[in-house]
Amino acid sequence: MANVVIVGTQWGDEGKGKVVDLLTRHADYIVRFQGGNNAGHTLVVEGKQFIFHLIPSGILYPEKKCLIGNGVVLDPGVLLAEMQELAESGLAVTPKRLTISANSHLIMPYHIQLDLGSEAKMKQGQKIGTTGRGIGPCYGDKINRRGIKAGELLDADLFRDKLAANVAEKNIFLTQILGVGPVSFDTIYAQYQEYTEKLAPFIGDVSVELDVARKAGRQILFEGAQGTQLDIDHGTYPFVTSSNTVAGNACIGSGFGPAHIDTVIGILKAYTTRVGEGPFPTELFDEVGDQLQRKGGEFGATTGRKRRCGWLDGVVARDAVRLNGINGLAITKLDVLSGQPELQISTAYEEGGERLSAMPGNIRRVARLQPIYEKLAGWQEEIRHVRHLDDLPAKARAYVQRIEEITETPVFILSVGPDREETILLRNPFVK
Ligand code: GDP
Ligand code: IMO
Ligand code: MG
Repeated sequence: MANVVIVGTQWGDEGKGKVVDLLTRHADYIVRFQGGNNAGHTLVVEGKQFIFHLIPSGILYPEKKCLIGNGVVLDPGVLLAEMQELAESGLAVTPKRLTISANSHLIMPYHIQLDLGSEAKMKQGQKIGTTGRGIGPCYGDKINRRGIKAGELLDADLFRDKLAANVAEKNIFLTQILGVGPVSFDTIYAQYQEYTEKLAPFIGDVSVELDVARKAGRQILFEGAQGTQLDIDHGTYPFVTSSNTVAGNACIGSGFGPAHIDTVIGILKAYTTRVGEGPFPTELFDEVGDQLQRKGGEFGATTGRKRRCGWLDGVVARDAVRLNGINGLAITKLDVLSGQPELQISTAYEEGGERLSAMPGNIRRVARLQPIYEKLAGWQEEIRHVRHLDDLPAKARAYVQRIEEITETPVFILSVGPDREETILLRNPFVK
C-alpha cells in the first residue's frame, strides 16, 4: 500500500494531469488539495482530449473515487459545467464518484470582480497576470475569516447572513476603490440556491473518507495544481498564486496526516514555461523559444494565453526537490526537444557578482538573475513512439541522466507525448 503526492516543480503546466491520469490505474482515491479552476489539467486518452479545472484528473476511471479537499477554492458554477460536460461524453459524475469537502471555500461572483478589477487597476510591471478566476480574493477571505464554505450552503440562514455581510463590504471596495460593480445580493443568492440543490449530495467530510480509505488499505493519489515557483510562500512572490502548491499542503488541504504519505513525485517539464507575469531567469526570446512554444503547443489550458518558454532551470528543479521532498521525477515533453542541435540547462545563477545555487527571495534580485548554463548535445530523432529507455537516442538518455545528477533524484517516469500511452514507466511509485 502506498500514498503518493504529485506536484508541479516549475511554474505550472508541467503535465500533472497526464501523469495523474496515468497513475490513477494504481490508485483508489484521487484528491485535489489546493488551487481552484485557475488550474487546467489536460489528459489525452486514445486521441481524445479532456481538460479538467476542478474535478480531479482521475475521473475518467469509473471505479475510482475523486475528492475535492478543504484546501481547494471552489467555483460551483464551473464545477457543475465540468460535470455537465462529462455527462455529455457519457460519464455521469455521481456522489459515489465525487465528494466535495464541506470545508472547501466558495468562489463568489464578487471574488472574480475583485480579481479582475484589481488586475485592471495595477500598473504594467505590477500586474500578476492572474487567471481572473477569483482565486486570490477567495483565499484572502478565507484567511481574513470572511469566507463562505461549501458546507455552509446547506444552512440557508447562515449562508444568507454571511453573503449579506460580504456583499455589503465588497460593494464598497468594488465601487469606491476599483470603480466596478456593484454585485447584487439577490442575484447571487438565487444563483447559489440553485447550485446548492445540485451540489448538496456531493458535500461531505473528505478527511474522514480518506481516513476510512487508508485504514482499509486503499491507495491514495494527491493531485497538486500549479507549481512550486507559484507557491505563495516559496515561489517568486508576489508573482505567484494564493495557495501553497508544495507537497506539504497535500496533508493540510485534505485533512490527511503527513506520516501516511509515502512518495512525492515532482513533474518536471524537459524545458521551462511560464504563463502570466513575473521573472523567469531562463526565458528565451529567440527562435528557440518560439520553436519550443510551437512544438510544445504551449498555450494555457485555462486562459488560452501563449506560454513563455525557456531552457530547463536546474536551480528551480533542485529547489523543488528540497521544498517538496521529491523522491522521484516524472520528466514530461521530452519529445518537444527533438531536433534542437544543442540544449542548455542552468545549474546556478549569477547576480551582483555573487553565485547563487537557490532562488533568492527578493523579487528584484530574481529579475536580475543571470543563469549559468551547461550545454548538452541535442538529438534529432522523433521519440513519441519510444516505450523503453534503451530505445531512446543516447543523447536523450544523457540529458535525462544529467537531470538526475543535478537534482540528485531518480527519474520514475518519462513522458514522450500527450497520450496516456506515450510514456516510459521506469518505476511505479505505488510499488514500494
Ligand atoms: P498540467 O496543468 O500540469 O496538468 O499541464 P497542462 O495540461 O496545462 O499542460 C501540459 C500540456 O502538455 C497539455 O497540452 C498536455 O496534453 C501536454 N503534454 C503532457 N505531456 C506531454 C508530453 O510528454 N509530450 C507532449 N508533446 N505533450 C505533453
Ligand atoms: P496548472 O494546475 C500555470 C498563474 C497565473 C498567474 C499566477 C496567479 O494548470 O499548472 P491566479 O489566477 O492563480 O491568482 O494567478 O499563477 N497560474 C498558473 N500558471 N498553470 C496553472 O495551473 C496556474 N494557475 C495559476 O498565470 O501568473
Ligand atoms: Mg495547466
